[in-house]
Amino acid sequence: MFLVPGSGNKPLGLKIAESLSCDVIDFETRRFPDGERYLRFTKEVPHDTAVVTQSLYKDPDGLMIEYVFLAKTLLDLGAKDVVGAFPYLAYLRQDSRFKAGEAISARIMSRIIESAPTSAILALDSHLHRVHNLNELFRIPATNLSAIPSLARQLESECTLHDPIIVAPDGEAAQWADLAAPILEAESVVMQKTRFGDTSVDINLGHASPSGRDIVLVDDIISTGGTIAQVAQQLKNKGADHIHALITHGLFAEGAYERVSRAGVEHLITSDSVPNHFSRVAVAPVFAKAVKDLQLA
Ligand code: R5P
Repeated sequence: MFLVPGSGNKPLGLKIAESLSCDVIDFETRRFPDGERYLRFTKEVPHDTAVVTQSLYKDPDGLMIEYVFLAKTLLDLGAKDVVGAFPYLAYLRQDSRFKAGEAISARIMSRIIESAPTSAILALDSHLHRVHNLNELFRIPATNLSAIPSLARQLESECTLHDPIIVAPDGEAAQWADLAAPILEAESVVMQKTRFGDTSVDINLGHASPSGRDIVLVDDIISTGGTIAQVAQQLKNKGADHIHALITHGLFAEGAYERVSRAGVEHLITSDSVPNHFSRVAVAPVFAKAVKDLQLA
């Protein structure tokens, strides 16, 4: 096996290769003046399994084309097969046609990855909402890994929590809150939102009261920060003490950090699937173990 680190978070690809103690086959890529991509392998491609890493941020379209060029060229040049490792697999939020005429991006992107062709994929805390399992999207073996246990252990090492509650901002995040709860030895609850209008939302924690307690919000993505900010603000209004947030993919669109911080989030930890100021959890070991498990299978 050898590893090809795609341009979407190349340092993470290299760390995965280091954890696997495998060879790295690098490539050069650039844009022609008209915007087309050029790509070339400068070393001989081994007749072996290629693990191509690609975190699809911040240019998901361009990075997806790069992935397809990499996979097809590797196979042309003699690689046995290609495993796609996507620390951040974009496009999964558009998993349905919410309005007539919309593209169902999650399905289209999964077909593109399959047709590269890719023999198996590994992803991390994929946004699975209406689709519950990656294997409902992909017709190749697909494994969804999680950074949440490592994020919870990191939080534990950074502070002492007072009577904590792990809070999932919505039903989809319940899976992540359930992973964090046993590590932090805390109860987990799923927020119930009642909307009274465009801007009026009440958030209910059921039987649990946030008053005077530490809150640990757990979610897959911070993009605009709107979800976490809204939830944090409501919890603060109900008397929550410190608010921590464990997020796998910190995309931080412009203004996101200011938004969540203004809403009362004091402590943020993300993984390094998309590098940012709060990336304190390394996911290379999680991917390296999953690649080894694939080989054993
Ligand atoms: C949505 O269901 C996701 O799990 C995240 O909560 C959402 O994508 C976060 O986006 P934003 O930070 O823009 O609210």
